[in-house]
Amino acid sequence: MSVVDPVNGRQVAALDVERIRRDFPILRREVHGKPLVYLDNGASAQRPEVVIEAEADCYRRYYANIHRGVHALSQESTSAFEAVRGKVKELLNAPSEREIVFTRGTTESINLVAQSHVRPMLKPGDEILITAMEHHSNIVPWQLLCDATGAKLVVVPFSDAGELSLEDVASRITARTRFISVMHVSNALGTINPVLEIVRLAREHGLTILLDGAQAAPHMPVDVQALDCDFYVFSAHKLYGPTGVGVLFGKYELLQAMPPWQGGGDMIRSVSFERTEFAEPPARFEAGTPNIAGVIGMGAAIDYFRALDPAAVFAHESALLRYAESELETVPGLRIIGNAAAKAGILSFVMEDAHPHDIGTILDADGVAIRAGHHCAQPVMQRYGVPATARASFAAYNTMAEVDALVASLHKVCDLFGR
Ligand code: ALA
Repeated sequence: MSVVDPVNGRQVAALDVERIRRDFPILRREVHGKPLVYLDNGASAQRPEVVIEAEADCYRRYYANIHRGVHALSQESTSAFEAVRGKVKELLNAPSEREIVFTRGTTESINLVAQSHVRPMLKPGDEILITAMEHHSNIVPWQLLCDATGAKLVVVPFSDAGELSLEDVASRITARTRFISVMHVSNALGTINPVLEIVRLAREHGLTILLDGAQAAPHMPVDVQALDCDFYVFSAHKLYGPTGVGVLFGKYELLQAMPPWQGGGDMIRSVSFERTEFAEPPARFEAGTPNIAGVIGMGAAIDYFRALDPAAVFAHESALLRYAESELETVPGLRIIGNAAAKAGILSFVMEDAHPHDIGTILDADGVAIRAGHHCAQPVMQRYGVPATARASFAAYNTMAEVDALVASLHKVCDLFGR
């Protein structure tokens, strides 16, 4: 069976969701005596057996420190670790493996760019442009930088529907703007931002730009050459991979011009007390022993995700979103927060009589896992005048029947809160 990719209209093979579900051992468990309905993928996705096994296999059969040993285990570990750069390159369609830096995740990748690329060019009064829908990882590193340098954070607002306008972005670019950092997909609203056009604006003004792909790379095809962004970041744990591992893609000439951001082993060419010479990128930005098995696990997760076909995953999650949005209309007093025309599989909502934490707790009793809170995006909550939202977020293994379970449980919330 095939379905239509909602982005470019091409036919893609429909996911065999029942087969996919069998790949994820955790989906077989029960919670409070009910089958688990895992709808908290925006916070972290679950792992298929192949990812769990790839990490375990490394520890079981060939683990040793990398880049340091002449012995067989070190060489095998080094090859397996370095092979993952090629997998990330393919995932993002990056021009070269040398442009792939392994980090602890999205947050560390953004901090790295802030400290090594942006900081050296800032003078007091310079400006960094972000949007009002960013999550804390794409706000706080820039605030720290502004505090340290006297630069100013300029924030582009968004509409009630949760959309950015290109006019608003363009009008906030001034002669003092030095850098732009924007999320590809909003974790709190689901909005897919017009990043291609925002990159074009950056280019017109001679600015460099980072795209935060934490909620995009695990859910749709990403092509950093088509986007022409300077930096692209994501975390493995939202892409069916291990925690504590992530990626910074950076154009090579930019990486090459950047000073290291942490010092230590593996990022040097030579060290003496008089003078240290740094390694070329990406090693320059990978000080110390990394999460070796974690990176190898990320490689398995990327293989798994690419075999599903990111366009097919996007089509499936879009269908879940559309179905959930229409079914949620049957729940009295429920209001969806974020109604952008272009959305990924993220559904934030509030209910008139129930606090999101109460919603989350009642749903949990039915085995339905959602996130309730500010989603590490407090300014988004302030924008809508709510303390928190409840959020269901989809992955490749979710089903229409799970949406039904979510909706049935929400009707229980209404009953309990007297509607
Ligand atoms: N940023 C993650 C979320 O949206 C943790 O839940």
